[in-house]
Amino acid sequence: LFATGAEFLKGVVAMDGMPPADRVEVCFAGRSNVGKSTLINALTGRKALARASNTPGRTQEINFFTLADSHYLVDLPGYGFANAPVAVVEKWQRLLKTYLAGRATLRRAFVLIDTRHGVKPVDEEIMALLDKAAVTFQVVLTKADKVRDKDREKTLTQVRGALATHPAAYPELVLSSSEKGEGIASLRSIIATLD
Ligand code: GTP
Ligand code: MG
Repeated sequence: LFATGAEFLKGVVAMDGMPPADRVEVCFAGRSNVGKSTLINALTGRKALARASNTPGRTQEINFFTLADSHYLVDLPGYGFANAPVAVVEKWQRLLKTYLAGRATLRRAFVLIDTRHGVKPVDEEIMALLDKAAVTFQVVLTKADKVRDKDREKTLTQVRGALATHPAAYPELVLSSSEKGEGIASLRSIIATLD
């Protein structure tokens, strides 16, 4: 699936701008700066397909990427702190929530959690929304390269505990590093099995 290449399709700022819901869709959600855009680049093997930066709030639209003719990869704006005006952030947070709860073809939401930080209250809020909307979500721990084995274990335990209370959570966690390529092959095969 990933061998065929991915292309940017469009950035969406309102639900009526969404492309037709006619293929398998997966999205990448998570706090600002957790590594969503970078992960899309690692998965697609394209350095700058999705725009990434060290400034939280880089992605301000819902960005659709086509993968083969069969899948959409969706890069979402981050939640939590963002380096942008409050009114703007509120607007994209509303869109994000409407999208997550209302996109019929959304097959899985990957919820990205920084391996250094674990699950935070804002993550819980998004997970609760996904439970309510019955959207299966799977946690991807990011930036694993920044964390020693002992601390990885601590985060894994914390995250497993948090997921136990969420009926929509897919139990298998993916530990990843876009920097080192860790977890990228597993994520590709997970996405390829969804249809
Ligand atoms: P927003 O669009 O602002 O919500 O952020 P985002 O979640 O898309 O994060 P983005 O991909 O822009 O990455 C944020 C910063 O983290 C960038 O400086 C990346 O280079 C860095 N980063 C992302 N993934 C990794 C990783 O696996 N390892 C390391 N060390 N840094 C990473
Ligand atoms: Mg981004």
